[in-house]
Order: sequence, then C-alpha cells, then structure tokens
Amino acid sequence: MVNLADGPIGIFDSGYGGLTILEEIRRKLPGYDYLYLGDNARSPYGTRSFEVVYEFTLQAVKWLFKQDCRLIILACNTASAKALRTIQQKDLPQLDPNRRVLGVIRPTVECIGNITKKQHIGILATPGTITSESYPIEIKKLFPNSIVTGEACPMWVPLVENGEYDKPGADYFVKQNIDRLFEKDSLIDTLILACTHYPLLENKIQRFLPKQVALVSQGRFVAESLADYLQRHPEIAEKCSKNETCRFFTTESEEKFSSMASLFLSGEIDAKRIVLEDAE
Ligand code: DGL
Repeated sequence: MVNLADGPIGIFDSGYGGLTILEEIRRKLPGYDYLYLGDNARSPYGTRSFEVVYEFTLQAVKWLFKQDCRLIILACNTASAKALRTIQQKDLPQLDPNRRVLGVIRPTVECIGNITKKQHIGILATPGTITSESYPIEIKKLFPNSIVTGEACPMWVPLVENGEYDKPGADYFVKQNIDRLFEKDSLIDTLILACTHYPLLENKIQRFLPKQVALVSQGRFVAESLADYLQRHPEIAEKCSKNETCRFFTTESEEKFSSMASLFLSGEIDAKRIVLEDAE
C-alpha cells in the first residue's frame, strides 16, 4: 500500500460526457498525465439503480487503481450522486487509504454562491441524479435559504450519445424539460447543467431559456476545484505523474469511442477497449 508508483489522474464517466470535464481539467492543469475511462458498454447510468451504479463505479475505481491512478475524478454526476460517498467511506479505507476519489457535485455547488441573486436554483440532470436528491442536499448545506427545483431529462443523454444533440429533433425535448422546470419555479435565476453530457446541448438550452437566467456548465468549476485541491494536498499532487499525456479506455468498441469522442474533444483519439469486472 505504501511506495505507490506515480501514475496518471483517472477520469471516469459512464460514457462520453466526462470528456467535457477532462477537456476543462487539461486546459487548467496541462502538465499532468490523464487516463480517461468510459463505461460506454453499460451507459447510460442515469436510469440505473443505486446498487448497480455503485457496483459499476467501484469496478471502474478498482481498475483505475490498478493502472496506478493515485487520484480519480468521477466525472459523472450520476456516479457522484449514487456511488461516491459509499466508495469514500466504506471502500477506500480498505482498498487503499492513500488514494483519493473525488466527485463533481460539491465543486459545482460551491460556485453558485457567486452567481445566484435570488437563491432560486434549477437543476437539470438524469433521473438518477434527480431522485438521489444529492444537489438539493449539498446546496442546502451551503445555502440553507435557497429554493432548489430539479427536472429529470431522460432523453438528453441518449440524444448526445447518438449524435443527435445538434439536430432539430432535439429541440422538442430540450424545450419540454426547460418549460417544465420553469413551470415549477418561474423565479429560477441560476440553472445548473448537472450532467456532464449537457454542455453539448448548451446552444439549444440557451435558446429556450429565459434571458435573465445564468447557466452553470460544470467543467470549469470542477477544473478550478481540482487545481485548488492539488495545491492544498501536495502529498497527492506529487504522486500524480506529469508528462502531459492522455490515454483513453472504453468498455465498448475502440472505433466507436474514437470517432464519437471527437464530438467532445478536439484532436485525434486512440482508445483501447477493456473489460470491467468485479476482480478483487
Ligand atoms: N454523464 C452522466 C452524468 O453526468 C450521465 C450519463 C449517464 O446517464 O450515464 O450524470
């Protein structure tokens, strides 16, 4: 457990959405090595149960640890909502207390204090993230007087995963969920895109949003929070290798991942396929 080799920072998502977080993290912290893992074969996670999301996420964490990742970011709101706490509290102390797994919810919530004026916050997310209540719980801890209203958008991830996010057919679903959210609370002044896939729908979302509403796309805030974390935790930072590399792994086809990933990231991607299982 001690004398760990230096290794890359692991970035995990159920599919492609975490690439939007990876891009912002690499922009902010270009010197580090990164290893991205997308569980595309079992995506989406957003409609799966707590048990299954936890089980799949734990398998991914164990695999990333085997690749010498000292620090892992769950760049997936659904995994952060349904698995992070149990992994941090129950699994990490047994697996290796010298490693860290962080999520995307807390860094996103921390930023809204500087943005909202009316303390009426809207959350757009997968059904899993909405039913977990993770965002209202975290927001209320920091901003007890806030009014938090969520809307589950079950069609948005499939629109992105199938490359339909910029097509006219996507307008119907984007408008429908935004209208429903503002029918529940017309005073929302800050809207969190609480799913790492949603930045690809940002242009459409902006079109259907009331003008005065600030849109929070989480990548930048997660990247800033990670930079701050590494500064405050030099014992972790110095165990993360720094050769400016980035490698990609997927549980689905390599060709499919490499071509789809170009929608999320600029530049060529060469992905490798792996199998995730419950290997102790
Ligand atoms: N990227 C995931 C998130 O941020 C959503 C995709 C999924 O449902 O698997 O919640």
